[in-house]
Amino acid sequence: MSSALTSTLPLNNGIPIPRLHLGVYMTSGHECSSAVTHALGAGYRAIDSAEWYANEAAAGSAITAFLASKQNQAGPGLKREHVWFTTKLKSNVGYDATRRSIRQSIRESGLGYIDLYLLHSPYGGPRKRLECWRAVEDAVREGECRAGGVSNFGVKHLQELLDANPTLVPAVNQIEVHPFNTQRAITSFCAQHNIAIEAYAPLARSLRANHPKIKELSKKYSCTWAQLMVKWGLQKGYIPLPKSVHEQRIKANAEVDGFEITEDDVEVLDGLDEKLVTDWDPTDAD
Ligand SMILES: NC(=O)c1ccc[n+]([C@@H]2O[C@H](COP(=O)([O-])OP(=O)(O)OC[C@H]3O[C@@H](n4cnc5c(N)ncnc54)[C@H](OP(=O)(O)O)[C@@H]3O)[C@@H](O)[C@H]2O)c1
Repeated sequence: MSSALTSTLPLNNGIPIPRLHLGVYMTSGHECSSAVTHALGAGYRAIDSAEWYANEAAAGSAITAFLASKQNQAGPGLKREHVWFTTKLKSNVGYDATRRSIRQSIRESGLGYIDLYLLHSPYGGPRKRLECWRAVEDAVREGECRAGGVSNFGVKHLQELLDANPTLVPAVNQIEVHPFNTQRAITSFCAQHNIAIEAYAPLARSLRANHPKIKELSKKYSCTWAQLMVKWGLQKGYIPLPKSVHEQRIKANAEVDGFEITEDDVEVLDGLDEKLVTDWDPTDAD
């Protein structure tokens, strides 16, 4: 199995997080559960969901069913703790609402706890952000979540949080990152503060699959354009979350062991930055 699927990175709380996750944005019901089942079958051990995606139940029940199917096979069984489940808070309303949402996500997923819980965005202003973060801290302390983090936080939001002397520094900032949007300011701030970067839209939603440089380098490394982009994210030290609902693509997107992009070519890819936003960009919100 590809080492991208078996290796982990230590978060700032010491917990190892899988290097590659399946994203399940814009999938629901059967499509979501079948994507999760294909991914787990291919060796993925981490799924990125969200309250907003309305697929926590589909993703969670597919994980539970997969684990159950493994109990009847020879060899060491797979357990809940072998699959990482991330979900996210839809809106930064306040402390109590966040605690309720976390418990609701645990119920929806049926997984007993959440591995990583993220504030999905910085929207809501400074007071709400801090209140919601306090709720995540308490949920982690009480064992509802193993780690807490943020998503779409810009440098000013991260600095604001650190200035408030949190008992927990976010373990992760999940942002859009790929060669066409390298997010230099945020990624270097996170590196300085030991906050791991989860790269969302790591395939740039396939919008640049035919870019001449991507085509040239895919040919050079005998890989697909999607593998090249996933590998770039891994070599940068990020945790890519490629999404697909197709079994063959899910498998292929993780088969990135057979090549290493040279430092020079990583720089060439960095140079493709055009600040491409594929979905939304709240990193500068008030
Ligand atoms: N925190 C946030 O605000 C936020 C925002 C956006 C995304 N995310 C997370 O990040 C994950 C990934 O981002 P994303 O879904 O926006 O985009 P993405 O992973 O960059 O791209 C997904 C698109 O690429 C296609 N694709 C995947 N593999 C392919 C392949 N090998 N060949 C051709 N096309 C391929 C998929 O189509 P098929 O499914 O048809 O294969 C889909 O249309 C999400 O699912 C979600 O978990 C988080």
